Amino acid sequence: MTLIDGNHIAQQIREELTEQVATIKEKGGKIPHLAAILVGNNPASEAYVRNKVKDCEKIGYGSTLVRFDTDVTEEELLAKVEEINQNDDIDGLIVQLPLPDHIAPEKVTFTIRPEKDVDGFHPTNVGRMAKGLPAYIAATPFGILQLLERYKIETAGKHCVVIGRSDIVGTPMSILMSRKAYPGNCTVTICHSRTKNMPDMTRQADILIAAIGQAGFVTADMVKEGAVVIDVGINRVDDASRKSGYALVGDVNFEEVAEKCSFITPVPGGVGPMTRAGLLYNTMLAAKKKIYEF
Ligand code: GUN
Repeated sequence: MTLIDGNHIAQQIREELTEQVATIKEKGGKIPHLAAILVGNNPASEAYVRNKVKDCEKIGYGSTLVRFDTDVTEEELLAKVEEINQNDDIDGLIVQLPLPDHIAPEKVTFTIRPEKDVDGFHPTNVGRMAKGLPAYIAATPFGILQLLERYKIETAGKHCVVIGRSDIVGTPMSILMSRKAYPGNCTVTICHSRTKNMPDMTRQADILIAAIGQAGFVTADMVKEGAVVIDVGINRVDDASRKSGYALVGDVNFEEVAEKCSFITPVPGGVGPMTRAGLLYNTMLAAKKKIYEF
């Protein structure tokens, strides 16, 4: 069994991007610049955004953090998005989710220019991805593709079973794994809350991607011997032995499933670290104007 080391691969990607920044500087080109908008004081969102900005600084990107109080109006927020859309110095823009209830997240996401949508949430990017055109791929699907590729995991002709049909993980992952490319060329099945006999489905998986948000959902009896298991879940479970009072666990019961796998991602340290690398990667593509060349 090979443990897939997301921290190592994410670091590799950051080093590659740092080198690209140095090359851009040498040639007098455009240094990538990411803007992040944060509304309110949700502690998890604050931590995510702080880390995203810190990541940019570490690898030599420009970054701008725009903060609004929770009571910002939708109009004010959309006006800021429009302003950043028009700012040629800023290549990528993210608006951290969730937003307060009085702001429609779709309205905000749809207002970001697709060329700057480094989260890959805009329907234009989702549509381009589905059509196999160059597109910003959302951070988690990006991270999974990179892990499969960099561990040279064979995917063509394999049966990939995705558990979960969310907008930002399960659905795009199913599309990406069935596309005519590497990683891809899989026969894909999506399982969800209405799936009957889920273990019968998951046992057919050569590649099993669990993105359902339930701690330890995938047990050993659901996994075929030799399968590749990608665990997207990050769930808090009570753990009195820790100072924090909780531990982070995935959607896969790692202890019992790992023994059956050819490859498996741990939680933490698997898919999680890759998502921040994905945002940096997309921001570089944005600065180089690589996606919307036509
Ligand atoms: N909230 C949780 N994950 C994300 C993400 O990837 N992008 C944005 N914009 N908000 C999030």
